[in-house]
Amino acid sequence: MCGIVGYIGNKDVKSVVLNGLYNLEYRGYDSAGIAFIDRKEKIHVYKKVGKVSVLEKEVLKNISNVSFKLGIGHTRWATHGKVSEQNAHPHTSASGKIAIVHNGIIENYVELKEFLEEKGYKLVSETDTEVLAHLIEYFYTTEELNLLTSFTKALQQVKGTYAIALISEYEPNKIFVARKGSPLTIGLGKGEMFVGSDIYAFIKYTNLVIYLNDENIGIIDGLAYNIYDLEGNTIDIRPVVTDSDLMFSDLQGYRSYMEKEIFEQPLYLKNALEKSIIIDNDDIIFPYFNFFSQENIKKINRIIITACGSSWNAGLIGKYLIEKLAQIPTSVEYASEFRYSSPIIHQNDMIIAISQSGETADTLEALKIPKSNGAKILSITNIPNSSICRESDGIIYMNANQEIGVAATKTFTNTVLILVLLSLYLANGKKLLSTTKMKKMLNELSDIPNKVQQILDQKESIFVLANKYVTKANFLYLGRGINYPIALEGALKLKEISYIHAEGYAAGEMKHGPLALIDEFMPVIFVAPKDYLYEKSVSNINEVKSRHGKTIGIISESDKYLPTILDDYICIPQTFDEFNPILSVIPLQLFAYYVGTIRGLNVDKPRNLAKSVTVE
Ligand code: G6P
Repeated sequence: MCGIVGYIGNKDVKSVVLNGLYNLEYRGYDSAGIAFIDRKEKIHVYKKVGKVSVLEKEVLKNISNVSFKLGIGHTRWATHGKVSEQNAHPHTSASGKIAIVHNGIIENYVELKEFLEEKGYKLVSETDTEVLAHLIEYFYTTEELNLLTSFTKALQQVKGTYAIALISEYEPNKIFVARKGSPLTIGLGKGEMFVGSDIYAFIKYTNLVIYLNDENIGIIDGLAYNIYDLEGNTIDIRPVVTDSDLMFSDLQGYRSYMEKEIFEQPLYLKNALEKSIIIDNDDIIFPYFNFFSQENIKKINRIIITACGSSWNAGLIGKYLIEKLAQIPTSVEYASEFRYSSPIIHQNDMIIAISQSGETADTLEALKIPKSNGAKILSITNIPNSSICRESDGIIYMNANQEIGVAATKTFTNTVLILVLLSLYLANGKKLLSTTKMKKMLNELSDIPNKVQQILDQKESIFVLANKYVTKANFLYLGRGINYPIALEGALKLKEISYIHAEGYAAGEMKHGPLALIDEFMPVIFVAPKDYLYEKSVSNINEVKSRHGKTIGIISESDKYLPTILDDYICIPQTFDEFNPILSVIPLQLFAYYVGTIRGLNVDKPRNLAKSVTVE
């Protein structure tokens, strides 16, 4: 949801800022812009609708030979104001001497705009951000405050969320930053400093990072940094060394990140099995579990999982797993709903927040309600030191390495694997699993990456299937029990990547509505491995067949019957019922990926979407 970059130092400022923008493009790609301060202390602003590559061309055409002291950049996911050059960031003040980039939403911008218009300011964009540039200059010029105080005073007027980087001809050797609700980090190099919405903006150059907290304002000049609160008091924040495993990865010969990330799932599932847990005496130990010792876990009466998007779908699988294996009542809540509900929280409730990015605004806010009621928060995330991590009492890392494709793939399967491990841990703590059963399950889990590989090896058949159905306008995805969330995830992948309408449904609910949609034009994808609900799924498939629907199955390789009645099918290897979702989702990811590519779409950056949703 918008990416912010900044650099001050002796490297070529243009290249560092543009490189940072490329690395953050997954956060938004409606437009991109930069502002630099040159050696004569003048601001230059360039903005373009579209991707960073369009902006880069413009920059190279105009200022390839100019040398700069510092610069900021922004890649936009539009919230206020349509996608246009005028609405692209950076936004400048009336004099053009202040340029700012912003991620977040200024909720009282109408009120602030009216105030500025009364004072004679003319706003040129439809954005909420522009008001801030004018407001800061208003305090700077009318109240003769220094830039830090003007910036602080303007932020005191703001309701909403922000991550901001600001440069100005008034103080041309500094970058000002601020954060509330939207993430912002500072990277410390030798005689140089970086700003990034996340560390991928600069991880190539430094892994020494300051994570700003809410209502922090900072100034960097390349040699020193100073952080203040909104009252102007100095705050002491120490940098942390971030895991260099998080190095930004390139395409390595794949045509897209989505393709690469689908195909590297065996590798990262193995990685999660090796890094997320320590197996000790057939028990599972999570290295960053902190509060959640077996002793404390025993007191837990109820679990609430909260998340958004694919993480929510994974959470729903978590409910089936935890209730079946550990017998702890579990509910799954959309974070965007949970944060505005009136949940009844008890001290012995455990909240699991699932978020790949660790920055999703709704999930971050949702966990604050139970936290203030004394419940403990466990987060499952892919990004160390993310905002959600910092609110949590314990963390399990997905260990999937960076995921760049907007649609979650490898982080989804790693999350489900983590939820399996967590359920086993909880079950073991409650003595619900015999040592033999535990051993058997861990043994089978270690073979899951190979089984995923066997499915990936069927890519040609899945491509053929995608070609056959690519022209269909609607799809229905059905599943039962633990595979119902996979029907939801399969449909979500197709919607996101190919813009085809797809609905995921609990197969047993089909007769209460969706059955009316079935005719010879409607393809129905059944997730129907040979598990405890197999016979029920077979009945649902027959119901669709008898209404002439096209039936496609994700079925077990041992299944001899379904191949005789389905129009098409893809086989997955046999495994325990609990592990089926990790396998059954793979053909659906590939199917969506191939349909999207056959339709000529940008599968890494689907229209209107963004990877990290840091606004509500
Ligand atoms: C966005 C992404 C999805 C993701 C969701 C939740 O919508 O496009 O792929 O599942 O956010 O993100 P999180 O980082 O919280 O898992």
